[in-house]
Amino acid sequence: MTTHNSIAFVHLWFNGSIRTEITKLGVPMTKPIHAILIGAGNRGAQSYAPYALALPDQLKFVAVAEPIEIRRKVFAEQHQIPEEMQFESWEPLLEKPAMGEVALICTQDWQHTAPAVAAMRAGYHVLLEKPMANKMDECRLLLDVSQETQRQLRICHVLRYTPHFIKLRELVQSGVLGQIVQVDHRENVSFWHMAHSYVRGNWRNESESSPMILAKCCHDLDILPWILGQQPTQLASVGSLIHYKAENAPEGAPQRCLDGCPAAQTCPHYAPHLYLEMAPFWNSIADTSKGFTRWASHQYAENAPLVRALSWVIPTLKQIPNYTGWPLTILTQNPTPESIEEALKTGPYGRCVYHCDNDVVDHQVVMMQFDDQSSVTLTMHGHSHYEYRSTKIEGTHGRLLAEFGNGGAWIKLDEHRTDWHMEFDTGAELGEGHGGGDFQLVNSFLKSVRDGSFEESLTGTREALQSHMLAFAAEESRLDGKFIEQNWWS
Ligand SMILES: NC(=O)c1ccc[n+]([C@@H]2O[C@H](COP(=O)([O-])OP(=O)(O)OC[C@H]3O[C@@H](n4cnc5c(N)ncnc54)[C@H](O)[C@@H]3O)[C@@H](O)[C@H]2O)c1
Repeated sequence: MTTHNSIAFVHLWFNGSIRTEITKLGVPMTKPIHAILIGAGNRGAQSYAPYALALPDQLKFVAVAEPIEIRRKVFAEQHQIPEEMQFESWEPLLEKPAMGEVALICTQDWQHTAPAVAAMRAGYHVLLEKPMANKMDECRLLLDVSQETQRQLRICHVLRYTPHFIKLRELVQSGVLGQIVQVDHRENVSFWHMAHSYVRGNWRNESESSPMILAKCCHDLDILPWILGQQPTQLASVGSLIHYKAENAPEGAPQRCLDGCPAAQTCPHYAPHLYLEMAPFWNSIADTSKGFTRWASHQYAENAPLVRALSWVIPTLKQIPNYTGWPLTILTQNPTPESIEEALKTGPYGRCVYHCDNDVVDHQVVMMQFDDQSSVTLTMHGHSHYEYRSTKIEGTHGRLLAEFGNGGAWIKLDEHRTDWHMEFDTGAELGEGHGGGDFQLVNSFLKSVRDGSFEESLTGTREALQSHMLAFAAEESRLDGKFIEQNWWS
């Protein structure tokens, strides 16, 4: 993940209204672009579609394909989509003549290629969730079809659209750091997000989704060359699944947490602690935020009754105990303590993390040499205390340190000769998912559809393909223990 849209709404509760945040993005008000949504799950319905609800004069959903009835109905009701425009799967929807300009495709990793190809052939410009596809030949096919049909294929590499990474790139490319020598970029996946998505959840098993380096780090493999303005020429990777397996289970741990687990008071992954108390979630928000958000989030994690009591006098605090966004919405459509408990008794998220059918790695390092000879490491691990990306860039004239987390983001810069120090609060513009990236992405996509700026978008899609090639190469290196030298950019 990933950081998520619902976390972003926490900021909106504290910092202002959703409409205020999106109007900062600046697409001129005009006739709305008509869109269809394929896959009304977490990303489709909750990350991108709220854009249309907030700015109906810019984007309007006219049809939806979603097999889960409750999701389809809720989405259709929110967006006022008539019965005849609601479909149980993408095929019948895409057999019809195009009923809008754009298609948002937000199905699971292995279900991207077929609907995206069909949508482009039907005439839609496509906003496609990452990874483009979980097989290399399918990624290439997608780019070919985009060129052949002259339809835009925008991959949801949302980090490119965040104020944080835009600023980081601007600083590096300004030359203030001199020649870049070494980069250490880390994707610190929190222990609870790892357990949620990559042990119990949708991305736990490679055969059903993607290798971890593709699912979690195709964003990072996309932004590193983009920030540095250089391209990798060689790479090697190591990694494995160390922890989340049966041999590490506490003695006597049952298949499900609620079946009398003897480690209920000590296990960090105990499902009721994560989903009913939500303490790790609020700690993670607190650890990278500041001011009132930091104080309130920490208080709730440490002393929930105090925050509940205070919320009677400070109404905005009610949003914390009443929070029902991600990851709770993944367990149940309408999260309540009762429905969450039921989900933990019967669904995948109540399983003991040591007794799941997971096989994706919980740590992986990719070591790369770029064409200016700089060395770059990308580290992903699923045991971080809180959720954040960190970047350290050492140059011949200075050093840059940066953090990008659930609660906020910052960049610090030091110049060698003068000891000049500068700090940038790149979390200040946080207003929605992925540090501002989700809505900025939709905004940019809509703008390019209006402008017809296909060439610029094509460059982005080619670069997305290259980031996927790097991920596949890293996985090959990890599995075969070999060093890979290739011109991924040819
Ligand atoms: N850009 C990012 O940073 C980011 C973050 C998280 C997830 N993702 C990616 O987004 C995608 C969706 O993830 P999600 O968390 O929303 O998953 P999800 O399971 O919540 O949503 C997928 C939806 O697709 C629906 N679906 C299944 N078959 C379908 C069909 N035949 N026709 C139409 N819909 C169908 C499912 O019922 C489900 O509601 C994944 O590929 C994931 O890797 C991207």
